[in-house]
Amino acid sequence: MHRTVDLKVHYYGTPVVLLSTRNPDGTANLAPMSSAWWLGQTAVLGLGNSGHTTANLLREREVVVNLVPSTLADAVDRLAMTTGSEHVPAGKAAKGYRFEPDKFGVAGLTPQESGLIAPPRVAECPIQLECVLQQAHTIGVPEPSCTTFVVDVVRAHVAEELIIPGTEYVDPVGWDPLIMKFCEFFGGGRNLRPSALAEGWNMPHERSVPAPAKV
Ligand SMILES: Cc1cc2nc3c(=O)[nH]c(=O)nc-3n(C[C@H](O)[C@H](O)[C@H](O)COP(=O)(O)O)c2cc1C
Repeated sequence: MHRTVDLKVHYYGTPVVLLSTRNPDGTANLAPMSSAWWLGQTAVLGLGNSGHTTANLLREREVVVNLVPSTLADAVDRLAMTTGSEHVPAGKAAKGYRFEPDKFGVAGLTPQESGLIAPPRVAECPIQLECVLQQAHTIGVPEPSCTTFVVDVVRAHVAEELIIPGTEYVDPVGWDPLIMKFCEFFGGGRNLRPSALAEGWNMPHERSVPAPAKV
């Protein structure tokens, strides 16, 4: 039996990526996001218009899409309530977001030079995609609130141990992506840790199984 529901959120479970972009002063910004999908060598990224990454990507036209393994859930959670924008938008401030100029430092992640573009890769991410902007479309009515970025993958880096020997393919068994499902973190099908994003969004905590303990 189905029931009609006024669904508040449509985050059904997508891989988490970390987007590295170049700030106006040449330093790097890093932001977690999960509204990403791929077709051929093109990636489509959905970003809110108030984000610093959105401004950086529109201006610099380059981004590294770093695919996050489930083992980096803690690092992503440390970035969850941050923005690279000095002026934190009111809606974000109300949820507890703060300005953070050193995203790599806060996350405890290591910048690694890219080959073809300016923004650095995240060394700890086993799959890193250097991308250049092809198109940007604003979406949302009556006021545009988001931007859909269409980017081309110009170079892909994959950790040796994830490449099926003798091929140019990623080992699907070895690759365990961090999944964001309804603002919670999952890996290997399991709920991994509490999520600051879920807390900021006041996601209900009644569940079919108990949430993992705070670490
Ligand atoms: C796991 C996770 C997934 C997220 N997915 C998205 C997303 O798909 N699109 C988006 O605009 N923001 C997403 N966010 C929120 C951004 O990370 C947040 O707006 C952040 O402030 C952006 O940083 P920036 O302003 O420095 O770019 C996500 C956050 C987390 C923790």
